[in-house]
Amino acid sequence: MRRKMILDCDTGHDDAIALMVASKHPDIELLGVTVVAGNQTLPKTLKNTLNVADHLGLDVPVYGGMSLPLVREQYVADDVHGETGLDGPVFGELHKKAEDKHAVLYLIDTLMASDGDITLVPVGPLTNIATAMRMEPRIIPKIQEIVLMGGAVGLGNASPAAEFNIYADPEAAHVVFTSGVKITMMPLDLTNTALANMQIIERMEGIGNKAGKLFGDIMRFTFSSQAVNGLDAGPVHDVTAVTYLVAPELYHKQDMFVEIDTNRYGPGYGRTICDANNRYHRKPNATVGLSIDLDRFWDLVEDTLRRHI
Ligand code: RIB
Ligand code: CA
Repeated sequence: MRRKMILDCDTGHDDAIALMVASKHPDIELLGVTVVAGNQTLPKTLKNTLNVADHLGLDVPVYGGMSLPLVREQYVADDVHGETGLDGPVFGELHKKAEDKHAVLYLIDTLMASDGDITLVPVGPLTNIATAMRMEPRIIPKIQEIVLMGGAVGLGNASPAAEFNIYADPEAAHVVFTSGVKITMMPLDLTNTALANMQIIERMEGIGNKAGKLFGDIMRFTFSSQAVNGLDAGPVHDVTAVTYLVAPELYHKQDMFVEIDTNRYGPGYGRTICDANNRYHRKPNATVGLSIDLDRFWDLVEDTLRRHI
């Protein structure tokens, strides 16, 4: 039985790879892609998402969503993803168009019409998901699971305390983490190990198709830009949320209570406070990924890219 999912993204280099995997893995039915502002402004993240789908001939509907965070001022990650949000690859003329429906309304309509068998995979700020929850709370029991890339048990990357996806909209993350929906969280502690070093880049380019070439064009850019985070190469953060749906056995994980620091004026704004030692004695609200079998992860990515044109 294929796993039904909706990818919510802020394309972004690693978001693009996540779309490539979600769209072609045989055990995933990608229903649609919703786009949010994050790595760059919404017009840019939407165009990037459309460009990747167009370039690879992906027949998946793409919906534009929220252009600003719920409360805080907009914060983009141009230091990592560049002026376009997807600097590096060069695309031809863009033919694919976004759907007319707003992403939040698509999420609500699709979830309400479902049998409760859809997994949401947000890999950007949680603004679209939180807005949908607030606009129509009846979707909450309809969400089978949320598997998200975001947060950190240890150090952040947008600030010493906070990971970008949460830091860019902490209040949205608070809505999602207090919703009661089953949440699996892929934090930086895990995702920073999924590094597309030059060996991986050349391995994927060696596939010899458009997807392998696009992987190289994308990840060669963040190979250098990720130095801002003290990394030797670009991590494919978002891909680890998608692969969890089809290979959870690759992950070491722990259930724990996770709280979002929404104190706008403190140094911890946007931090995911992960109670790994159960100091609060609160019921766990998330399963947190702690590590991943990287050899089998990259095998899965390569096998899926081979399914593309
Ligand atoms: O912190 C990493 C996350 O921020 C990833 O989702 C990346 O695409 C950026 O959105
Ligand atoms: Ca992202």
